Amino acid sequence: MPMEKYLQQAKSLLAKMTVEEKIAQLIQIPYAQYGREASLEWAKKGAGSFLHLSAEQAEEIQAVALQSRVGIPVLFGIDAVRGHALNDKATIFPTQLALACTWDRALVQEVGKATAREVAADGIHWTFSPLLCLARDTRWGRCNETFGEDPYLTGELAKAMIEGYQGEDLAEENSILACAKHYIAYGEAVGGRDATDSEVTYRKVREVFLPPFQKAVEAGVASIMTAYGSLDGTPLTIDGHALRNILKEELGFQGFVVTDWANVTNLVEKQHIAKDAKEASKLALEAGNDMIMSSPEFYDAILSLLQAGEIDEKYIDEACLRILCVKLAVNLWDKAKTSKKSNIVGQESHQKQSLESARRSLTLLKNDGTLPLQNKYKKIALFGANADDIRAQYGDWTYFTHPLPYPDRQATRPYTTLKEGMEKCSADRALECKYLRACGPIADDSDDIEAAINLARQAEVIIYAIGDEISQIGEGKDRANLALSGRQEELFGELQKLGKPIVCVLIASKPLAIENIAENCNALLCAFNGGAHGGQAIAEALFGEFSPSGRLPISFPRHSGQLPVYYNQLPGWHSWNPEFPDGKYADLDPTPLFAFGEGKGYSKVSYHDFCFDPANLQAKIRVQNNGEYSVFETVQVYVRDLVSSILTPIKRLVAFQQVELQAGESKSISIELKKEDFTLINRKEEAVLEPGEFTVFVGASSKDEDLLSETFYLG
Ligand code: GLC
Repeated sequence: MPMEKYLQQAKSLLAKMTVEEKIAQLIQIPYAQYGREASLEWAKKGAGSFLHLSAEQAEEIQAVALQSRVGIPVLFGIDAVRGHALNDKATIFPTQLALACTWDRALVQEVGKATAREVAADGIHWTFSPLLCLARDTRWGRCNETFGEDPYLTGELAKAMIEGYQGEDLAEENSILACAKHYIAYGEAVGGRDATDSEVTYRKVREVFLPPFQKAVEAGVASIMTAYGSLDGTPLTIDGHALRNILKEELGFQGFVVTDWANVTNLVEKQHIAKDAKEASKLALEAGNDMIMSSPEFYDAILSLLQAGEIDEKYIDEACLRILCVKLAVNLWDKAKTSKKSNIVGQESHQKQSLESARRSLTLLKNDGTLPLQNKYKKIALFGANADDIRAQYGDWTYFTHPLPYPDRQATRPYTTLKEGMEKCSADRALECKYLRACGPIADDSDDIEAAINLARQAEVIIYAIGDEISQIGEGKDRANLALSGRQEELFGELQKLGKPIVCVLIASKPLAIENIAENCNALLCAFNGGAHGGQAIAEALFGEFSPSGRLPISFPRHSGQLPVYYNQLPGWHSWNPEFPDGKYADLDPTPLFAFGEGKGYSKVSYHDFCFDPANLQAKIRVQNNGEYSVFETVQVYVRDLVSSILTPIKRLVAFQQVELQAGESKSISIELKKEDFTLINRKEEAVLEPGEFTVFVGASSKDEDLLSETFYLG
């Protein structure tokens, strides 16, 4: 988003503004939490932005703002992070983690476009999305909001989503501002404990966490959100090196930086880095934050600092100019007057898109041939609370959970739970499907293992939905133990004794430690949180109406104690045991339960004729569909630097390409790499290509047994 284009116009606006009006532009007020009266007062004071409000509330606030002396329209923001899902009439898409299983840039971009249409139709201009954090310690409560553990995949899908939200031109009617968050390394918090310190160096930031933000900036993202946490003891909110030197100067970010919720307040109350609001506000503004979310004390603090000559007005001007440039870029003066279009919110074509996204997100992790069900079994028993709980199926960031918790809210149609999907698919095939809750992620008095066993005895195949639920997901809901909660494992053990085929379906916000179930079930389908139509998509896949094509964007641990278990580890696990030259735990298999990039289908796909041309860094491969189902195959390319001056990952994803293969079809594809794919970040934080030998891997997942490789010299 070229700031220069609007700078002159913004400067002439700024020149007309009083210092109070300039500071007010930096203030963002949470309508839902502050309520109508307080929000209207802030609108009269000239607050530049509000978040978490409905179309009607926004209209009232905007009308007040336009009557103010300088009449600068207000920017409205919302967490439309999986569709405009805080509005209960909107289309609810799969979560980012589920979308990431599709590895489909175009699909993710279309989800962004549909979301933007619905948000814009409500007169809201901005979404606090996409989230670029990496989920490398899955105890963290917000994994569902990520695109998984890998910097390259996250960057690619984030870029696609930003382009979907922002369109060709921010001024277009259906374009909204995107917000790349949370800057930076927020998901790396110690112990998976949300918003604690991330013990990383700036070198590690540049190697692992910065690349997705670089792609977001290159894609013209209009805003970036400062993380709650801290890097090696320095809160991001006051980290001028991260915000000014790296983000604004080195990467050339042209939009504005908004803090996360009450970051300035928390400098005093939680991080104890400032003694009072004045010190906190000064630190935050001078470090490079432009808009201050939910810390209204910032207004009086900065005003008094300015009047006492304790802060330079240039900081206020720079922040205000960035915000004004974005408001001009979105043509806010016109958008503020456009009427709302409620018929667009939740429209049929978006519902179909959500269903197709859910289908493509399904990832088959195990199958001994029990799937697809087709008409093999006349009597089906379905168990698990998550098969009939739309809140659990949704997961986080919908009208159930935000902007305030709404425990008594009723679900709004359209949606399909797994129970409903299975009942429909069974009825279409004149099969019998009987459901019993039996138990769920939270044990309660309605659990009934015995009744489940009695029902299972009458069935020929068992479908069992396992997972987690809202009380275990999100901010401040990190988990120390990723084993299945409640009596879910117990039920599995009892079902297993019956000796009937058991198909497990994971409806959860993140990978759970399900080693026992993975080893003893007959088939395992990972759905994560598939949105409004997730239940229909799962049922269709189980019956074989299509082949699952999802690939994991995140590794599954066997045990919580194994974390972090991400695939792109550094070498060096030391072991004297010759049986495990690369090291192992004394008490656990060292490999992940399921690997990054892993996923099966109903057709076996094989890879052939791999060759790599070092001269033009081109990989060629032929993929063959050996089955009767058409599939989307995700060809993955990894690299390894065999000898480097600093430890580099045992393998690193640098490219992927999706190819649709009809039954029996074979296709040859070529994938061009770039020299940057072989660089590392040295101790001086420079990206360098060290001449030497490299290995390129091509295949169906990050597992060695799924990869073909060639080693070559690159100078
Ligand atoms: C929240 C989250 C952030 C969200 C913001 C506004 O606490 O950390 O992701 O966009 O506040 O709701």
